[in-house]
Amino acid sequence: MPNPISGFSKKNKAEKIAWLASQYLEQDPDAIEVLKNYWHQDEILQQLHDDFIENTLTNYYLPLGIAPNFLINENLYALPMVTEESSVVAAASNAAKFWLDRGGFKAEVISTVKNGQVHFNYFGNVTEMTTFFNKIKPALIASIEDIQQNMKKRGGGLLDITLQDHTKELDGYFQLHCTFETGDAMGANFINSCLETFATTLEKEAAVYPVFTKANKYPEVVMSILSNYVPECTVRASVSCKVKDLAQKDITGEEFATKFVRAIEIAKTAPRRAVTHNKGAMNGVDALVVATGNDFRAVEAGVHAYAARTGKYTSLTDAKIEGDTFHFWIEIPLAIGTVGGLTRLHPVVKVAFKILQQPDAKELMKIMAVSGLAQNFAAVRSLTTTGIQKGHMKMHLMNILNQLEATAKEKEQTVAHFTEHAVSHSAVVTFVNKLRN
Ligand code: MEV
Repeated sequence: MPNPISGFSKKNKAEKIAWLASQYLEQDPDAIEVLKNYWHQDEILQQLHDDFIENTLTNYYLPLGIAPNFLINENLYALPMVTEESSVVAAASNAAKFWLDRGGFKAEVISTVKNGQVHFNYFGNVTEMTTFFNKIKPALIASIEDIQQNMKKRGGGLLDITLQDHTKELDGYFQLHCTFETGDAMGANFINSCLETFATTLEKEAAVYPVFTKANKYPEVVMSILSNYVPECTVRASVSCKVKDLAQKDITGEEFATKFVRAIEIAKTAPRRAVTHNKGAMNGVDALVVATGNDFRAVEAGVHAYAARTGKYTSLTDAKIEGDTFHFWIEIPLAIGTVGGLTRLHPVVKVAFKILQQPDAKELMKIMAVSGLAQNFAAVRSLTTTGIQKGHMKMHLMNILNQLEATAKEKEQTVAHFTEHAVSHSAVVTFVNKLRN
């Protein structure tokens, strides 16, 4: 069994690797070579990556692909997408082209309000707490003046603080519920700094508040943190066209639209389907969130909570046929930034922003929502027509060939063969073995 270690983070990279080799990779010295092979030759660039997190040993590559032909509000974008899933970029490109010929995508930001809470206990009289809060509210706001100076200059800052009484759900539980506008920043650091200052001010003011002193009952802060649930920071993307213009190989526009809308109704009805349906949409959103150095865990958490906002988990997208027109749309919360975090640090992220023509946060929200809608369209289109595996396995073919360490010639012959035949793992193995014999 490996030994525990203290002071690991103080070791240099070579020492960390040596420790890892002795404790976990003894049977496999080649593994260390793999780690080293992924170092960047440029030491300054490598140092930049080393500094992103603690205990960096190497870099972990994911491909960045491009999905061109996204017409969004009359602007033509090529989307940089980072993902490990073989079919995602192909599906996005496909959907982009499909809608390019049918008027493109429309997108609008609905609102951009973010929020955070100071969670605290108070076991005294609720009316007294309310009176206290109203009295100290100006002091709370004044206490973050320094912190929000720059944010205010950029048109953002604190919007409001309210006291929320949650004692019916949990004995003695209150919140300072705070709302913010953070402009082009995701704003996590700004919001958390404000909240922690509110917490300190709350306790300081409470310590000298006569009513609390007399009753010997004081508010006690439990924690202060932004919320990744941002239902007031939402964006909507949509497409529409004449039903007849949806006609494709082997299917009329009407048949396609009817089946497509039915698939959406199923996702709206059945949570088990909705989760997978939404996962498909998030394939498109996340690929852009990662490419632009944004926090994909925050986005994922917020989006899925939003999908369950009525108390039942449901589809993020919706569709209808109205007269002779097909409509398809998505509405999602997205707290993302175009400044701060990795956005201006990671060299590839910087290029991604250049490809996207340096969008501000609102524009990026629109592009991400469109990407989600396109991805969902591509998935549901495949599911309701050819089935998903045909396209998916075709894209996965190269991964299977790489696993089999196929030569360039073998790859060429296999790809040619499988343009005419259904791809499955075993079929590819059989075919490559036959070639080799
Ligand atoms: C796979 O990554 C995504 C899909 O499962 C989405 C869906 O089922 O709608 C194809």
